[in-house]
Amino acid sequence: MTTLAILTAAGSGARLGRDLPKALVDLGGFPLVLHAARRLVGSGVVDALVVTAPDGLRDVVADLLITDAHVTVPVTVVDGGPTRQASVAAGLAVADASHDVVLVHDAARPLVPADLVRRVDAAVRAGHDAVVPGLPVTDTVKQVVPGDDVELVVGTPDRAWLRAVQTPQGFTRELLERAHKAGRERSGSEAAAATDDAGLVEALGEPVHIVRGDAAAAKITTERDLRMAALELED
Ligand code: CTP
Ligand code: MG
Repeated sequence: MTTLAILTAAGSGARLGRDLPKALVDLGGFPLVLHAARRLVGSGVVDALVVTAPDGLRDVVADLLITDAHVTVPVTVVDGGPTRQASVAAGLAVADASHDVVLVHDAARPLVPADLVRRVDAAVRAGHDAVVPGLPVTDTVKQVVPGDDVELVVGTPDRAWLRAVQTPQGFTRELLERAHKAGRERSGSEAAAATDDAGLVEALGEPVHIVRGDAAAAKITTERDLRMAALELED
């Protein structure tokens, strides 16, 4: 069996608010996308990498990864799409059909531990066709009727049943392709796009499994998250 990783890096990083896309923002001397690529490759289970690049920056991203001594697997860089889902689909479209397992990882989670990558990959190889890392939710979560200012609470799900999910999310290539194809066919008829790949698999009615996530794989969305990641790097 071989594993391909799709590394999504095509977002603009609007919430970070820098003058360059989030994946190219520096963290301790290296851009986020390079941290993420090194950690995926460093896991030892990734045989090839496809990276989705922001508009006009395909060559910049390719130079960065292909010249890096730690990125020792073949790298293909493609233009991303207008949404994360479209970017993953663009990556899948160039995926070599010989890979049985696909891990989808966000450059916005640059400090993903190699162990976590191996845990997800191993669970897929062991026969779970869709595997997502997740952590118990520590906050109490309310369901609301969304409003502008004051919102009405309509329920409190039992926290014991909730998991906050991360990436990499792992799939058999066949299932991930089927889920994205069905997602494309549904789009237009359904309001919200899926915010993760597992959501597309769930929409097919296929099972998704959770393995233990890791706080170090936290997502960088805001400046505060970036500062937390810098502290994590110093440890
Ligand atoms: N992504 C992508 N293509 C898009 C949108 C997002 O490849 N059209 C990637 C981002 O680069 C990121 C991951 O998907 O690695 C998760 O997205 P998010 O954290 O929302 O990043 P951005 O979209 O860049 O940030 P923002 O939503 O604040 O603009
Ligand atoms: Mg986004």
